[in-house]
Amino acid sequence: MTVSENRNIAIVGVGSLMSKSLAVWLASLGWNIALVSRSEKNLSAIADEVRHAQKGKNGKVVYRAADASEPETLKATLDWCVQQLGGKLDVLSYNAARVALSNVTELTVDELDQDFKVSVVGTLVAGQWFSNGNAKVDRIAEGEWPLFLVTGGVLDKVPEQTLASLSCVKSASQTLSRLFAKDLPEKANILVGMPLISGRVVSPGDSEYNPKFDTEKIISEVFKPFFEDRENQCDGKTGWTVERIL
Ligand SMILES: NC(=O)c1ccc[n+]([C@@H]2O[C@H](COP(=O)([O-])OP(=O)(O)OC[C@H]3O[C@@H](n4cnc5c(N)ncnc54)[C@H](OP(=O)(O)O)[C@@H]3O)[C@@H](O)[C@H]2O)c1
Repeated sequence: MTVSENRNIAIVGVGSLMSKSLAVWLASLGWNIALVSRSEKNLSAIADEVRHAQKGKNGKVVYRAADASEPETLKATLDWCVQQLGGKLDVLSYNAARVALSNVTELTVDELDQDFKVSVVGTLVAGQWFSNGNAKVDRIAEGEWPLFLVTGGVLDKVPEQTLASLSCVKSASQTLSRLFAKDLPEKANILVGMPLISGRVVSPGDSEYNPKFDTEKIISEVFKPFFEDRENQCDGKTGWTVERIL
């Protein structure tokens, strides 16, 4: 199966790991890409790498620094992405989370509250914004559906003592994604995909690096099938796989 060129994606939560590999792969297909996270400096460097990966294709690569945990900021930033890319989004990837150690006996209320806002409130706001007229639905007759992609893991089922806060908020955000997966196909003509990564993802130079969870491998084995399938849904959501786990 192939993935079409020249489509539009916004990625919320951009860093050096899965999001960058996703953007690099889509840049090689000539996609128009909007990158959103808080650090302008990191975004600028990642955007350069993404542009470099275009290999002669001339998709737009834009970025904007914004905090996805702030609902009004997130909505305004996503509106900006649509304006910059010159059209509605084919795919919205919500990838933002704070992946950091925390223990339930020491976790502060503020920390849990902040993590909830990034992972859960951000997923809610992004999914509602996308379903509110911002998804490209004109190709559905040809079997191509817009996709809301929410990155996750298995902490909702197997909480980790050292990732207390993340385990809590991922339980909630993945429940939200599963609820969106039930509602959005009928109500908004949007499919929902959950790439779920069951291990630690780090850069190849890191001592915890495990090739099973290499970011390029994850994109090709877990993310790419969602992009292929969303273009082959002639019978609507029939046969659509919501969750893919590695
Ligand atoms: N890494 C893992 O081991 C692992 C395993 C399973 C699942 N996941 C899931 O994968 C996703 C992250 O992917 P990744 O680990 O590969 O990292 P990544 O794609 O390299 O980057 C994620 C980026 O999210 C951004 N972010 C955090 N809080 C934000 C906020 N409030 N507003 C906007 N952006 C924000 C951060 O950039 P700024 O700090 O610049 O904002 C961070 O660099 C998360 O949903 C995580 O739960 C990760």
